[in-house]
Amino acid sequence: MTHEDTYIIKGGLAGRDRLRVLGRALQPTTTAFLERVGVATGAACLDVGCGGGDVSLLLAEAVGPSGRVVGLDLDAEKMALASAEAKAAQIHHIEYRVGTVQDLDDRGTYDVVYSRFLLTHLPDPAGALRNMVSAARPGGVVTIEDIDFGGSFCYPDNAAYERYCELYTQAALARGVDPYIGRRLPSLLADAGLTNIVLNVESPASFNADVKAVSPLTLENIADAAVAAGLVERDEMNELITEIWAFAGEPMSILSLPRIVQVHGTVPG
Ligand SMILES: C[S@@+](CC[C@H](N)C(=O)[O-])C[C@H]1O[C@@H](n2cnc3c(N)ncnc32)[C@H](O)[C@@H]1O
Repeated sequence: MTHEDTYIIKGGLAGRDRLRVLGRALQPTTTAFLERVGVATGAACLDVGCGGGDVSLLLAEAVGPSGRVVGLDLDAEKMALASAEAKAAQIHHIEYRVGTVQDLDDRGTYDVVYSRFLLTHLPDPAGALRNMVSAARPGGVVTIEDIDFGGSFCYPDNAAYERYCELYTQAALARGVDPYIGRRLPSLLADAGLTNIVLNVESPASFNADVKAVSPLTLENIADAAVAAGLVERDEMNELITEIWAFAGEPMSILSLPRIVQVHGTVPG
């Protein structure tokens, strides 16, 4: 299995468009997380599995032009789009690199190593985390946000939303990755040798269109993987997508994101 094979969500442009909505939905909680971590002016940051670069941009704003941000992702199409966007916005202190966390060999380089929603897609999250810890300098901080699908909820009860949660978790488990990894993050960080571990849990849910669109967009983007895994027929999937968009369109419906676990720890030394 290649690294791409365990990633159940579509990549490229379709994946980037979903991440744009996700980025807007999560901006408040990620910004608050980065403020608590304390990303200093002039710091060197690495955003691992940076996708479209939404958090790389937040980091670039935090460190200012005297700092630098490297965004790393295996998806060359997303890296090309993100580079073009940064160039158009005249942001020169972000560099986007195509590469995998498994091959990451920077050592003791960064003040802040950040990663959002990557470890949940990896069969060996502990190994990936070890590489992230090695990339940070002694005294630097490793900051991780990831999902716990056990925390998803909707209101009122809705069969399409329930089925979406079931299919997402089944598709992830079928590829040998963990849709509930959020709850394991503090232990994973401790096992990777980090100290002063701090935990915060968020459960984004609102009537905001971006927050509600994340569930149907995610279902659309995992459709091929779920059908290929034999978890659902294509016709049922198409009906589900229509039903969950209709549910999201009801003014007072609530479709939460998965629970999000934010954890950071310090590299000893
Ligand atoms: C759910 S997206 C999250 C993107 C971004 N961190 C964000 O929160 O907007 C996960 C990203 O991890 C990337 N990815 C998956 N496996 C990877 C690996 N082994 N090494 C590096 N990036 C990987 C995917 O291409 C995708 O862009």
